[in-house]
Amino acid sequence: MTHALFDPLTLRDLEVRNRIWVPPMCQYSVHERDGRATDWHLMHYGALARGGAGAVIVEATGVVPEGRIAPQDLGLWNDEQREALTPIVELVHSQGAAIGIQLAHAGRKASTHPEWGTGGEGSLSAQEGGWETVAPSAIAFPGLETPRALDAQGIEEVVTAFADAAGRAAEAGFDLVEIHAAHGYLLHEFLSPLSNRREDEHGGSLENRSRLLLRVVDAVRARVGEAMPVLVRLSGTDWVEDGLSVEEVGAVGALLKEHGVDLLDISSGGNITPAPIPVGPGYQVPLATAVRAASGLPTAAVGMISEPFQAEQILATELADVVLIGRELLRDPNFPLHAARALRHDGAYIPPQYARAHR
Ligand SMILES: Cc1cc2nc3c(=O)[nH]c(=O)nc-3n(C[C@H](O)[C@H](O)[C@H](O)COP(=O)(O)O)c2cc1C
Repeated sequence: MTHALFDPLTLRDLEVRNRIWVPPMCQYSVHERDGRATDWHLMHYGALARGGAGAVIVEATGVVPEGRIAPQDLGLWNDEQREALTPIVELVHSQGAAIGIQLAHAGRKASTHPEWGTGGEGSLSAQEGGWETVAPSAIAFPGLETPRALDAQGIEEVVTAFADAAGRAAEAGFDLVEIHAAHGYLLHEFLSPLSNRREDEHGGSLENRSRLLLRVVDAVRARVGEAMPVLVRLSGTDWVEDGLSVEEVGAVGALLKEHGVDLLDISSGGNITPAPIPVGPGYQVPLATAVRAASGLPTAAVGMISEPFQAEQILATELADVVLIGRELLRDPNFPLHAARALRHDGAYIPPQYARAHR
């Protein structure tokens, strides 16, 4: 029997073995604070590849030091960081999975305590190793320090930093890059009227608010060449009246298609708190479907997709083209193997060493 979950997907020169992918998930495990991957990352991403995922997208990785959410984040602003990622790329490839990396700048949500490990929350103080954050406008995210508004030169540097990091990702052997433009981080802050009050060519109209993202996409493409898929993660809505709407995000998606983006990863929220988010199984899928229709691009759906039949139905009914499974894969990195069994799908990848357990 065929199943949409186990259909390969081709993007440019890349064929991915199935449609169950791992979304980026911060591990906050760079204990030396130097942006270099550690043994934890090697084991974590290797296990996800062995578990049968089609593609593994490495967590939000800072394109500049001040673009990290927390000091324990990965970085890709120097060659030592690239070299530390290479063994992870090789290990994931050895398990038959593709590997991508999410390139990120956290903007006004940078310089925070990690989710775990320090016992603290909110912005880091200077004594704790914090730094000045940057954003489109000097408007604080609730509960965090007020950022500095980027000037024209600062914006140029952001574009260059994304391109440089993408070049290093390609050199390290990554199969794809994902540009993080969701969850209230820098590129989303430019897109959203909640955080962008600029009066120059980067503020006001949707065209102006999209300008930085499109420039980043163009610069990344120029650096990685034509063979590598470029993905963009967007928040499909800010979930509040005066924020970014799904219609606007659909229009941004159409522009991204014109600029050669290959797939949109549609999440939501993150640029304002509190927000009335209707969290529940598959709650962001309708956003992925709407952006897919408006943009004409393949989309990945994400958010509380945790059951094999639920995931299969999303793809089989063409609500999205890929499912990203986050927390369920942290609970069970072998979810793709289990999904194949649950759907009675033969022909899915099973590590030969484990074949006797799956007969
Ligand atoms: C531990 C953890 C870390 C995360 N880190 C990131 C990240 O680095 N970048 C990102 O875009 N989303 C991040 N997210 C969000 C996930 O990619 C995903 O969108 C979210 O968990 C919803 O999917 P799920 O319900 O399948 O977990 C993170 C989520 C978790 C649980």
